[in-house]
Amino acid sequence: MRTHYCAEISEEHIGQEVTVSGWVSSRRDHGGVIFIDLRDKDEVVQIVCDPADNVEAHKHAEEVRDQFVIIATGKVRARGEGLENPNLKTGKIEIVADKLLIENRSLPMPFDLGDEKVNEEIRLKYRYLELRTQKGYDTFRLRSKASIAARNSLDEMGFLEVETPILTKSTPEGARDYLVPSRVHGGEFYALPQSPQLFKQLLMVGGFDRYFQIAKCFRDEDLRADRQPEFTQIDVEMSFCDQEDVIKVAEKLIGDIFRACGKEVPATFNRMTHSEAMEKYGSDKPDMRYDLAMVDVIDIFEKCDNEIFSKIAKTPKKNRIKALKVPNGDNIFSKRQMKGFEDYVRKFGAQGLGYFQMKEDGLKGPLTKFFSEADLQAIVDRCELAVGDVVFFGAGDKRTVLDYMGRFRIYLAELMEIIPEDRYEFLWVLDFPMFEVEDGKIKALHHPFTMPKLSEDGTLDYEEIEDIESIAYDIVLNGTELGGGSIRIHKEDIQSEIFRLLGISEEEAQEKFGFLLEALKFGAPPHGGFAMGLDRMIMLLAGTESIRDVIAFPKTQRAQCLLTQAPSPVDNEQLKELSLRIRQTPTA
Ligand code: AMO
Repeated sequence: MRTHYCAEISEEHIGQEVTVSGWVSSRRDHGGVIFIDLRDKDEVVQIVCDPADNVEAHKHAEEVRDQFVIIATGKVRARGEGLENPNLKTGKIEIVADKLLIENRSLPMPFDLGDEKVNEEIRLKYRYLELRTQKGYDTFRLRSKASIAARNSLDEMGFLEVETPILTKSTPEGARDYLVPSRVHGGEFYALPQSPQLFKQLLMVGGFDRYFQIAKCFRDEDLRADRQPEFTQIDVEMSFCDQEDVIKVAEKLIGDIFRACGKEVPATFNRMTHSEAMEKYGSDKPDMRYDLAMVDVIDIFEKCDNEIFSKIAKTPKKNRIKALKVPNGDNIFSKRQMKGFEDYVRKFGAQGLGYFQMKEDGLKGPLTKFFSEADLQAIVDRCELAVGDVVFFGAGDKRTVLDYMGRFRIYLAELMEIIPEDRYEFLWVLDFPMFEVEDGKIKALHHPFTMPKLSEDGTLDYEEIEDIESIAYDIVLNGTELGGGSIRIHKEDIQSEIFRLLGISEEEAQEKFGFLLEALKFGAPPHGGFAMGLDRMIMLLAGTESIRDVIAFPKTQRAQCLLTQAPSPVDNEQLKELSLRIRQTPTA
């Protein structure tokens, strides 16, 4: 139905007859001569239908409307002087229609395809129309390039691509499971995998040495701009390796993917410990495209005359007093903005937000009266303040302060528009704590299969459970968690001990993970790996704001597919077969 794709036609073809096929992206009637922009997958070519050249073709052109499917045949000719379009690859030529076939008609478009501000509901309902744009095609070409590059890179490094089950048993990755009822085993359920974590470990026990998969994962969790209920990971696992070996593979893989997408990245990425990331940036995924690092000033505040601060400063293990310097902030922010900052941090649990302004004659601000001259100078020195700078203070319980000051850092950077858009700043965040305690409950920070750092005699040695570190690492790109992984526990006794610390009883461990515990007793090699969110990576490569843009048929924030109307009720017959009964009508 075509001799050429639009993009293939150039001045070289002048005088030749070609056939092109695609959609009408615009039609203009210039006093009898009709110009049609015909668009195929990725380029536009201009078709000229002049009744003087061909009456029949012109008659069809009169009928044509936007997004009709047409097939046009005609001779290529040079465009007239001054009529060239430098924005098109085909901008120097046009096709004089000899034959124009309307292959299919189209209803008027439900929205302007080029308008990204159109309500998302309508765009997702007609997602296939949104895909039929240059941007749609370019995004998925990029995604395809990235996946193919990932496959080739891992293949080159000796990794075997293996598919693991979708109908499986729950793997804990911190979210709720999507469950699938079994018909054959009434009352029993499969879980869709939150990740292939346990299967990839079993492949290592199976002796495959190096595995990868571009794997679909399913998590029933609160959705955000960078989260979907169904997403894709580039999932990797390897045996007889340490953290450095895994990092090398990940850096090479990322380099190969980015290069295939036309972006150069450094051969090795910067590194930071989890504790440094939290203390300096209030986040385990700091955006390193800008500085705004926090400085600890708790020891200076301990000596001040303000009871609130000095009391907080008395327990430095539990509490934090952090300073965040904004260079030249005194000249950037209005009084009203400064007041607004306090309202902002209060939303995240702050009691208030202190600040000093660095003037010609020293530090000024409502708090200065509580400090001696020497301590004010100590603040100036510690924060390296220059005239015009503003420094903000957050004080209180460690977790709360780091959280709101970290958010405040991002808020300020966005407000001041200091985040460079065309830069990729990768960062390894290392040495994650093994556990976190939330509302008195101990949880694994990565997942319970992560190897804790053991003492020399191979045991767990700790005073407080939160002090145990793990051999876990995250890959952060521009403030987004791109991936994460760890060295795994490959010995059954340590795995059982971790389950015990997590409050999982022996029976529960057997019931949920008995197959893993058993496999670890059959010669499990030391192993480790990582997984990267492919969708997130494409989102960052394509420079889009939402992960939904880079998923062909995404779900809404409420986990619905507006195109197919999933999820949807099923009839009673089907429920009966699955031994299910609906107790309540589903809520809207
Ligand atoms: P983790 O849970 O950190 O690790 O997931 C790895 C990466 O997957 C991406 N990701 C998501 N992307 C879109 N939507 C979601 N809902 C979503 N959840 C996660 C992120 C994340 O960094 N089994 C471990 C990996 C390992 O230890 O090897 C795992 O799944 O980019």
